[in-house]
Amino acid sequence: MDISTSVSNPVYILGIESSCDDTSAAICCETHLLSNVVASQKVHEQYGGVVPELASRAHQQNIIPVVHQALKQAGIDKKQLAAVAFTRGPGLMGSLLVGTSFAKGFAQALGLPLIDVNHLQAHILANFIDNDDSVQHPEFPFLCLLVSGGNSQIVLVRTPNDMEIVGQTIDDAAGEAFDKCAKVMGLPYPGGPHIDRLANEGNADAFRLSKPRIEGYDYSFSGLKTSFLYLLRDELKLNPAFAEERRADLCASLQQTIVEILMDKFRKAADYFKVKDIALAGGVSANSGLRKAFTAYAEQSGKRAFIPKLAYTMDNAAMITVAGWFKFVQNDFCTLSAPPFARVEI
Ligand code: KG4
Repeated sequence: MDISTSVSNPVYILGIESSCDDTSAAICCETHLLSNVVASQKVHEQYGGVVPELASRAHQQNIIPVVHQALKQAGIDKKQLAAVAFTRGPGLMGSLLVGTSFAKGFAQALGLPLIDVNHLQAHILANFIDNDDSVQHPEFPFLCLLVSGGNSQIVLVRTPNDMEIVGQTIDDAAGEAFDKCAKVMGLPYPGGPHIDRLANEGNADAFRLSKPRIEGYDYSFSGLKTSFLYLLRDELKLNPAFAEERRADLCASLQQTIVEILMDKFRKAADYFKVKDIALAGGVSANSGLRKAFTAYAEQSGKRAFIPKLAYTMDNAAMITVAGWFKFVQNDFCTLSAPPFARVEI
């Protein structure tokens, strides 16, 4: 597909994202991003994880101001919009319902078409967000490592709307491994960024952690999580201050193991599918160790690596607008009766 496909008038699309604990609205003109407003919910930090009921309530409070702000920053009036794109799933049902219902009401009131977007596809299409003219994009087909709090997948991307999962986690996601191990070390939620920061000060070879042995391109992180827990439990019996004293080494060893697990399978898949371009996506793609390993692999293998800017790795509506644009050019709209899906594959 020629992604430079364009239509005669500027097409402004409003995107709405509310799948988990970030309320976000963005405006794009084709793939060119005009605004991206994200209201993150701090309320969950004290619980060490997202509380679904609190997330839905916060989305209700945030959605109107966030959309208002996105229109204001983009410098356009809502009457100039050509369509409304929204995250239909996967995600938390209560959270999805807020964004979906808002998008439907807003589109209906303005007589605009609706575009339903798969949140996971949108993470991958974050690699096509333009907010500066020099940005290059992967060429189709490419292979994407999609790593977030809920998913770890290797995806063959044939076109913006034709993606195939070639490998995925059979239990926990990479982000869950980061977050759960961070929790047992007493680090705040979400733990991934804290582990990343502390890992830079530690010795990655200090501890050996277990790696899964699974056929094909699938992942598993539950064994690693258990081996981390047992290591901590055994060492804490000998030295109650172990977790604090060795925190940086623990983080560095854990991060290195997660990155190795992710890259081992991804390398194999990229070699098998003989793709020229490879891309990272999802919240865990913010990880500095993973970004480094991904770029190094691309350099060694002569492939081109694409990694979204940090702001577009986490949940955001910019990626929803761009995914919406790719469906808009295909006239791929949905009806008002389209329900949100808590679980849905790519
Ligand atoms: O994609 P995302 O924003 O939400 C989901 O849709 O799941 O990803 C959130 C996940 C969390 O598990 C968080 O700990 C992880 O991304 N994360 C990181 C980093 N930044 C965010 N993990 C490792 N290193 C980071 N720098």
